[in-house]
Amino acid sequence: MLICCAAMPFSSADPNDEQCLTHLSESLQDPFKNLQNWTKDTFANPCRGFTSNLQGATCNNGRIYKLSLSNLTLKGTISPYLSNCTNLQALDLSSNALTGPIPSELQYLVNLAVLNLSLNHLSGPIPQQLALCAYLNVIDLHDNHLTGTIPQQLGLLVRLSVFDVSNNKLYGPIPTTLGNRSENFPRFNASSYVGNKNLYGYPLAPMKSKGLSVLFIVGIGLGSGLLSLVLSFSAVCIWLRVTEQKVENEEGKIMPDY
Ligand SMILES: *[C@@H]1O[C@H](CO)[C@@H](O)[C@H](O)[C@H]1NC(C)=O
Ligand SMILES: *[C@@H]1O[C@H](CO)[C@@H](O)[C@H](O)[C@H]1NC(C)=O
Ligand SMILES: *[C@@H]1O[C@H](CO)[C@@H](O)[C@H](O)[C@H]1NC(C)=O
Ligand SMILES: *[C@@H]1O[C@H](CO)[C@@H](O)[C@H](O)[C@H]1NC(C)=O
Ligand SMILES: *[C@@H]1O[C@H](CO)[C@@H](O)[C@H](O)[C@H]1NC(C)=O
Repeated sequence: MLICCAAMPFSSADPNDEQCLTHLSESLQDPFKNLQNWTKDTFANPCRGFTSNLQGATCNNGRIYKLSLSNLTLKGTISPYLSNCTNLQALDLSSNALTGPIPSELQYLVNLAVLNLSLNHLSGPIPQQLALCAYLNVIDLHDNHLTGTIPQQLGLLVRLSVFDVSNNKLYGPIPTTLGNRSENFPRFNASSYVGNKNLYGYPLAPMKSKGLSVLFIVGIGLGSGLLSLVLSFSAVCIWLRVTEQKVENEEGKIMPDY
């Protein structure tokens, strides 16, 4: 294996980038053939120094450092091998029709600063491992079908300046570390969180219906408690009456002789 690879003709391309692009092109579907030059030959040599041969890719010193494949009617899934593009600083796959999960392998993109996967059909949880991409300053995941809670760990991303998870299916409390920058200023305002039916906490407005429903539940509890009290009381009364009558009857009965 080693001999084979050592004997291969010299190429300036990075084998990691080639792996990354090959797998990504396999996991994506491009029904309208919008991805120009996305062929095996180009994957082997996507960059000429600072210029790219690959639509949507930007190169820096022979390595892919930006992928912008926004609004290209792409379908399919995000390959976990994307993490092999280790010099990637910006990943924008927004405004497509991508499905499946956000791969937790993105954690290995240690230079990643911008992640925009908004306006797709992505499902599953937000990987907590994204917190390991310490340079992240944009996480835009709005308008997907993401479920689960917002990972607490994302609050540790000190450079995070844009965070948008609006219009998903997230639930649970907004981590306080993502809620407040300092005492009264939200780190991110409510528009970052709206459109998730079961997400709550600052900076979202308190749910008004919640107070009502709590009263409602208390009402039902009290009501049913009272009802069962009345019912068991009358049951005891009836039982007492019946046994009283039985005793009376038995006392009046003439026992048959043997
Ligand atoms: C496709 O590759 C050719 C060279 O192989 C290049 O001239 C052209 O600009 C590339 N197209 C895009 C969209 O990058
Ligand atoms: C997306 O692409 C379509 C067709 O190419 C174009 O008409 C539309 O303006 C684009 N939308 C955005 C937001 O770029
Ligand atoms: C992410 O992509 C969407 C759609 O292309 C765009 O509207 C939005 O501004 C982008 N987010 C950021 C933070 O740039
Ligand atoms: C965030 O701000 C709200 C509103 O001022 C406040 O009630 C809450 O205690 C703050 N939380 C933290 C963790 O500072
Ligand atoms: C929330 O903040 C964004 C910028 O981060 C701003 O464009 C938007 O108007 C704000 N929305 C509200 C409701 O304050």
